Amino acid sequence: MSTTYQLDTATSRAHPTPAPMRRLSIPAIRQRKANGVTAEPVVMLTAYTARQAQLLDVHCDLLLVGDSLGQVIYGLPSSVPVTLDMMAAHGAAVVRGSWHAAVVVDLPFGTYEASPQAAFASASRLLKETGCDAVKLEGGAAMAETVAFLNQRGIPVMGHVGLTPQAVNVLGGYAARGRERAEADKIIADARALDAAGAFAIVVEGVVEPLAIEITRAVSCPTIGIGGSAQCDGQVLVTEDMLGMFERVPRFVKRYAAVSEVIAGAARDYAAEVRTRAFPGPDQTYQPK
Ligand code: KIV
Repeated sequence: MSTTYQLDTATSRAHPTPAPMRRLSIPAIRQRKANGVTAEPVVMLTAYTARQAQLLDVHCDLLLVGDSLGQVIYGLPSSVPVTLDMMAAHGAAVVRGSWHAAVVVDLPFGTYEASPQAAFASASRLLKETGCDAVKLEGGAAMAETVAFLNQRGIPVMGHVGLTPQAVNVLGGYAARGRERAEADKIIADARALDAAGAFAIVVEGVVEPLAIEITRAVSCPTIGIGGSAQCDGQVLVTEDMLGMFERVPRFVKRYAAVSEVIAGAARDYAAEVRTRAFPGPDQTYQPK
């Protein structure tokens, strides 16, 4: 069962009790773009755990429980093996750790493509078990019917076009898309189809910049760029990339911190103090009265 909306404020890990009605709504995000103009860009970061959500929440409009957790959290080679159980568990944690940003949970590969009905079963499970506000799915025109089906049945959907990591076995890798005009036209048509089907926003990943700008102009809903353009209506990064948790820094990532060095340094100092019996010291031990 979900424990959505209950935040424990009694521990140091907890965030203040949320006011659920103050969470940003999906229509409010959608309405950020009006008549083709987005005055205030949409800020999205990935989150996979409650504590991460607590730290990111106030700064973000959207928290994405991305299936990138397959690689980032589970050490999997791609997002293909990620399961609905994983997404449900992490989605619930992120909802518990947030009160301001709207939470979007990725539908993992294999749980939505076969039919709109299959997508509804998976997406409704995520909404019920996590308390999330919307789901995200990958794919363009082929997914438009599914997006409309979910939307008409109460499930807001974020689309995802361009480089779609779940299709890595078809695409053959993670290189930027849309360098050829024919592929660029297909990606624009994909985005248009999702927009017409009622997607409230569309992630535009790993495309050449002029294409990201074209897509942003072509659709009425906000585009969220990652490896796109500053002219998209919003941006998303994988938080661990942005924090500098990994040695590899893809071109589209900007590091805002060097957290891997902080963690390694703390572990090194802890190990040294354990080995020299400097830890625990008087401040960390209990004495009889
Ligand atoms: O899974 C994910 O984290 C994503 C973002 C990179 C957009 O889909």
